[in-house]
Amino acid sequence: MADRLDKFISENSGLTRSEAKKALASGRVTVNGAVCKKGETKVSESDRVTLDGNGLKVIGQVYILLNKPAGVLSATEDTRDRTVLDLLKEDPEIRESCPRNGLFPVGRLDKDTEGLLIITNDGVLSHNLLSPAKHVEKEYLAVCDGELAKDAADRFAEGIQVGEEYKAKPAKLTVVSENENECTLKIVLTEGRFHQVKRMCHEVGVEVRYLKRIRFGELVLPEDMPVGAMKFIDKKEITG
Ligand code: URA
Repeated sequence: MADRLDKFISENSGLTRSEAKKALASGRVTVNGAVCKKGETKVSESDRVTLDGNGLKVIGQVYILLNKPAGVLSATEDTRDRTVLDLLKEDPEIRESCPRNGLFPVGRLDKDTEGLLIITNDGVLSHNLLSPAKHVEKEYLAVCDGELAKDAADRFAEGIQVGEEYKAKPAKLTVVSENENECTLKIVLTEGRFHQVKRMCHEVGVEVRYLKRIRFGELVLPEDMPVGAMKFIDKKEITG
């Protein structure tokens, strides 16, 4: 399918549409070997387009695994806070190989939650991962203050009542360590409601102090991946 050259460049390089127009105007772009300065030129996949001498390929669908740091919003843009897409733009290697438009995080982690977040432009995959009907597991590590109710794991397994609003789907709770003041838990959910882990923990007597997502479906957060790090991954690593 033929597309405008300025659009093709911004979709398949780290440049915005206006940066692409400037690159064109300054002669940094060639089409099939000849410098081309006209953004409206129609190009298709069979044309060889270069930017600063480097061939541009159709980027297509991308999948990025981010170990989200606390303090960053799981959103595409925000007027006040840094978002996970801002983090992508700040990483030169990722920025260069990502389309500038159409990327979004798959679901949300709270601002103060760390851990596994997938960023993609694949709407179908995102729908399949988030659809309640698909029961995709999400696993969290939660460090909590307080004394855990003795029957917490059973209540999670049955489906715990959260406030007056809803009964959660059955979930797995494993105690990693505990004493009378605090505990570390692993929790596996198949839903993704607002503050769900925090609210479910509250129902069994403890308050989450630190929360990290460590698995989403088949995809496990590597233990040695630093907080804030990101990398391209293969779709198969997510879907199995
Ligand atoms: N549950 C929460 O409470 N917060 C998150 O960020 C994710 C799940």
